[in-house]
Amino acid sequence: MTALTLSTAAAPGVSADAIVIGVAKAGAGPVVAPGAESVVEAYDGALPGVLETLGASGAEGELTKLPAPAGFEAPLLVAVGLGAEPEAEAGYDAETLRRAAGVAARGLAGTGKAAFALPVDGPGAVAAIAEGALLGAYAFDAYKEKTDDGDAKNAPLGEAVVLTGGGDDHDAALARAVAVSEELNRARDLVNTPPNDLDPEAFAAIARAAADEHGLQIEVLDDAALVEGGYGGIMGVGGGSAATPRLVKLAYTHPEADKHLAFVGKGITYDSGGISLKPAGHNETMKCDMAGAAAVFAAVVSAARLGLKVNVTGWLALAENMPSGSAVRPGDVLRMYSGKTVEVLNTDAEGRLVLADALWAASAEEPDAIVDVATLTGAMVLALGSRTFGIMANDDAFRASLHDMAEETGEPAWQMPLPEHLRKGMDSPVADIANMGERMGGGLVAGLFLREFVGEGITWAHLDIAGPAFNEGGPFGYTPKGGTGTAVRTLVRLAELTADGDLG
Ligand code: BES
Ligand code: MN
Ligand code: ZN
Repeated sequence: MTALTLSTAAAPGVSADAIVIGVAKAGAGPVVAPGAESVVEAYDGALPGVLETLGASGAEGELTKLPAPAGFEAPLLVAVGLGAEPEAEAGYDAETLRRAAGVAARGLAGTGKAAFALPVDGPGAVAAIAEGALLGAYAFDAYKEKTDDGDAKNAPLGEAVVLTGGGDDHDAALARAVAVSEELNRARDLVNTPPNDLDPEAFAAIARAAADEHGLQIEVLDDAALVEGGYGGIMGVGGGSAATPRLVKLAYTHPEADKHLAFVGKGITYDSGGISLKPAGHNETMKCDMAGAAAVFAAVVSAARLGLKVNVTGWLALAENMPSGSAVRPGDVLRMYSGKTVEVLNTDAEGRLVLADALWAASAEEPDAIVDVATLTGAMVLALGSRTFGIMANDDAFRASLHDMAEETGEPAWQMPLPEHLRKGMDSPVADIANMGERMGGGLVAGLFLREFVGEGITWAHLDIAGPAFNEGGPFGYTPKGGTGTAVRTLVRLAELTADGDLG
């Protein structure tokens, strides 16, 4: 992974392969953003004109490369667009810097070392630039042809230096950004790993290795233990696959913690739809159906790396949804871990079945709050598009707080309701509930289903990340093609605020 350091040096003396500067869009043309004063000086006032000649406007996402001025140690200058110049007092917001650093880092693939001379007005800006650089430099090249020294062609930017110009608390901000970004990138790796190499057993083994590395407690229930324990939802969904399901419990504890959070992740390592088979065109990206479990995993490990004063338990509900002679059928009734019975009307509505068991298991520990994360419904993608996740909850204030955290950390999200009238659509003539209801509002129906499996009186929220979990389009900002790692930063923020006592 890209190495990150801080430096108080000025750009000319930094020995690197490239210097990154920011360019904003102003009325009269491009303006060079603060942080690059020494570069502006070296051009003797000519830089904005040079940039304009090269076609740079300062628009967000824009990248312009030009030779560095004489006397610079680095040969290359990379000007990255920041969008509209902010009001004098406002400064550049964190997400603008994160995205710009991401665009630059991505554009510098194949480069050894780059120094970022972007506007820094405090630790928040340092963290944003660091996150943007690390997340933007990400590449999934595990399955690509390697050079003789074992590197992928066009390997990610090797080293990033954030030029800060001096200031306090920068080291801690950098350390936090590095820990969270590294774990987020690992979540992306898990999502991108093809399902023939990442089945429930393999995912559980990776969780076990991380638990050993970071001193987490881990319990893995295999298929025998799941049958024995009565986990009918997870076993039902996993029953059609040659790769057996797992329920992983990963616990980070702090000796002085007085709050306990439970994160529950949907971990369908491949969703074929099962007997209700998905048609071609709808299953090619379904290795991403474990993105919720990957986000939960990354958030728990991040909490451990940050040493947060809160207990965080992650539950990974891992199964592969496949059609076979042993697969659950439309019409089957499952007895869930909670004791409720579910009539399976559509085997492609499998996420809610595995989550139901994991939510009930998480509830037994009576945590202060549960948040589940799941690529749950196509309906949520239709509602919010492919970059925004939906937040549902049994508590309005908690839902609003999560929305604020998502916004603050740069994860687009929106609050969605759980309308009571949609519940009766899941009434079943043979079981306590069916796994499908009205088609309209399908994302909310799924949320209502999950709510039935949350323990009485426990604060709960559900993040439906089906849209943003996997980027099928081109890369943008610090978001690559493929697995995005969405929801990791919101979960980590929740853990931090809970640790600090800033939340309920
Ligand atoms: N994994 C899918 C949801 C999904 C869709 C994730 C698109 C990512 C991108 C989920 O298991 C599913 O198939 N949901 C069904 C539910 C329906 C059968 C009630 C859906 O949304 O169509
Ligand atoms: Mn499905
Ligand atoms: Zn699914």
